Amino acid sequence: MKRQIVIAGNWKMHKTNSEAMQLANQIRIKTMDITKTRIIICPPFTALAPVFEIIGDSKIHLGAQNMFWEKEGAYTGEISAGMVKSTGADYVIIGHSERRQYFGETDETVNKKIKAALENGLKPIVCVGETLDEREAQITLKVVGKQIRGAFDGISAEQMSKIIIAYEPVWAIGTGKTATPEQAQEVHGEIRKLIAELYDAQVAEKLIIQYGGSVKPANAESLLSQQDIDGALVGGACLKADSFSEIIHIAEKLQ
Ligand code: 13P
Repeated sequence: MKRQIVIAGNWKMHKTNSEAMQLANQIRIKTMDITKTRIIICPPFTALAPVFEIIGDSKIHLGAQNMFWEKEGAYTGEISAGMVKSTGADYVIIGHSERRQYFGETDETVNKKIKAALENGLKPIVCVGETLDEREAQITLKVVGKQIRGAFDGISAEQMSKIIIAYEPVWAIGTGKTATPEQAQEVHGEIRKLIAELYDAQVAEKLIIQYGGSVKPANAESLLSQQDIDGALVGGACLKADSFSEIIHIAEKLQ
């Protein structure tokens, strides 16, 4: 039996509030017939509250793209998990490779953020993935394994049931280069094995592992058909309601 497919859209630094509300509304209309697939949209912080109003009582979930681990205080420019939660969001992307690359995030900060998110009732979508150099040096599994052990240090099996892992090979993000379904499946299978080792078989079996990196309507079916690929974290193709809803409809048919 296939696990529920979860399709999330990471809007990154795109869309003013009026543009965001328009896109969210188009996605809402185009996915009204969806009953099985879980849909999550992650606009920038500024658009969270207005987008929440737009998605209203539809089945679309709202997520943020980041947060800080402290509750409150003198941290100019930062946003806490409680603030994210207060917008209506129930998910948060943590440790995206762009945050690791440009904003100095480490496995340790990712771990702190995951704990703070869970404490505030947010479900983390935790990103892992190797760079091109690391893949060429054939250390993909080692790199991803280290990221996972670091991210989930001190996280209980019960907490793990609220977490989604997104495997996003850095070389496939925004490049148009997608991992082949076989390349992605191999890493997803290894991630599930590692989670079984760190927790147990049941936690591993239930875990949602999304693939991210140039997912588009043309490659969604072959990726999502893989045994251990349970969803997608979509960047570029989620900025247009047509392509995002097409990916969601492909997922819906596979369940
Ligand atoms: P692209 O789909 O644009 O490659 O982005 C993937 C991503 O980083 C989603 O978080």
